[in-house]
Amino acid sequence: MSQTAGNITIERKHSHVEICLHGDIAFSGKTTGFEHYEFEHNAVPELSFADISLSTTFLGRTIAAPLMISSMTGGYSEATYLNQRLAETAEQFRIPLGVGSMRQALENSSHRESFAIVRKYAPSIQIFANIGAPEIAKGLTDSDISIMLDLLEADGLIVHFNAAQELFQPEGNTDFRHVLDHLSTLTARIPVPVIAKEVGSGISGAAATQLFEAGVKAVDVAGAGGTSWQKVEEIRYTRQFGTESRFSTPALEELLNWGIPTAQCLKEIAALKISNKIFSTVELISSGGIKSGMDIAKSLALGANLGASAGHLLKALHEGVLELTIESWLNDLRAVMFLTGAATIEELRSKSLIVKQ
Ligand SMILES: Cc1cc2nc3c(=O)[nH]c(=O)nc-3n(C[C@H](O)[C@H](O)[C@H](O)COP(=O)(O)O)c2cc1C
Repeated sequence: MSQTAGNITIERKHSHVEICLHGDIAFSGKTTGFEHYEFEHNAVPELSFADISLSTTFLGRTIAAPLMISSMTGGYSEATYLNQRLAETAEQFRIPLGVGSMRQALENSSHRESFAIVRKYAPSIQIFANIGAPEIAKGLTDSDISIMLDLLEADGLIVHFNAAQELFQPEGNTDFRHVLDHLSTLTARIPVPVIAKEVGSGISGAAATQLFEAGVKAVDVAGAGGTSWQKVEEIRYTRQFGTESRFSTPALEELLNWGIPTAQCLKEIAALKISNKIFSTVELISSGGIKSGMDIAKSLALGANLGASAGHLLKALHEGVLELTIESWLNDLRAVMFLTGAATIEELRSKSLIVKQ
């Protein structure tokens, strides 16, 4: 990779974190959809709060709670500290962790430290490598796969599908041709499970079908309602070129808020898993705008196996309240379980939600 291309990647990773912390990047006029649902109160719970267990399984491993820290960063020096803090926190709570895109580590061996540090601080949990769909569409070599998995001693590889982000990104790669063929080849030859995720525009039932058929073992919907990556990249674009948007004013607002709300993605994919036995074992992650244990509880009742968060947890880390935030989300979950009479996560997943009038 040329020096210039390397610098652009570092600038991008750095400004992503800075814009996610300080920029106006929330969806406007569109939400996750969780607010439309509520649980039915159980006046006769027949369980002791003290006996509630948050423990569950994900891709064959026991985890302490149905929460994952979503893929965020890596590949430049300041990311080393962020990844260390995320890793030690995930280890403390015994929950899975995804790292940010490892493209940088593949392109330049001097940018691997921020990934290598993760396993050191999280020796026992599931850790997931991460690469973009445009990268797999170009074709990953066996050596690329080994580098990513070995750096983290990874338990799986997350492939992010981020068409809307790439479209808005000043230096975006908008060539997604043959991506499903490459994904099928990848899932057949890699020794660990592959997870497909979006980054905030959501995965529909139809798209999930294509991903399941290509052999992914889990889908992370990363739906609309949380971080808008179109907005993040639009901020970078206007900073870089100091010009108006490339899109017309009437269309821009809809494009910036483009995507399927998280709850809608879950409903579509959960229905697919019920109607199609072949997909029944594929796991479902709810993310995109998760901001409480209530959102996670509703996600599980809508069919997810786990909830995951990026933007909110990044802000919590920045404000020095990451552990407190996760603890409060787990307390929210216990509260919902107590009030619905669910002693286990499996029981919570079987509860039905009422659509609010
Ligand atoms: C600073 C930051 C960097 C991110 N980088 C990546 C990445 O490299 N790969 C990826 O799959 N997702 C990345 N994401 C997207 C998140 O994993 C997540 O899908 C998205 O932000 C929506 O979740 P949220 O609403 O909880 O933020 C990043 C998110 C943040 C906040």
